[in-house]
Amino acid sequence: MKVRYVMAIIAAISISSNANAADDGEALFNKSGCTSCHGIDKKVVGPAMKDVAAKYAGDKNAQALLEKKVRSGGSGSFPNMLMPMPATPASVSDASIKTLVTWILSLK
Ligand code: HEC
Repeated sequence: MKVRYVMAIIAAISISSNANAADDGEALFNKSGCTSCHGIDKKVVGPAMKDVAAKYAGDKNAQALLEKKVRSGGSGSFPNMLMPMPATPASVSDASIKTLVTWILSLK
C-alpha cells in the first residue's frame, strides 16, 4: 500500500518535470552563459531571443542552422553587432543546444 503510494508520487513528479520543454529551454538559457549577452525580449550584446524567433519565423532550416551557429559561433546575421557570437563551450551538450534552439524559435 505505502510503496504504491510513493511510486505514484514519483511518477507524478517525473511526468511534471518532463511536461514542459519550454521550461527546460529557459532554464538552460539561464544557466548556459547566454544571458551575459542575450535578453529574451531585449537586445544586449547580442540580439533579443524574440528578434531571433521573428527573423526565422517560417524558415524550415532555422533549427539546424541555429544549432550550428550556437555550437560554433559566428557573425553576419544581425546588423550593428559589436562582436561575433562566440562558440558555446563543450560543457553545454549538443542535446542542450537543440533544446535551447527549439525554445528560442518558439518565442513570440
Ligand atoms: C559573448 C556574447 C554572447 C554569448 C555568451 C552568447 N551569444 Fe548568442 N549572439 C551573440 C551575438 C553578438 C550574436 C549576433 C551574431 C550575428 O549577427 O550573426 C548572437 C546571435 C545568436 C543567435 C542568432 C544567430 C543567427 O545567426 O541568427 C542565437 C540563436 C544565439 N545567439 C543564441 C545563443 C545562446 C543559446 C547562447 C548561450 C548558449 C548564446 N547565444 C550566447 C552574442 C553572444
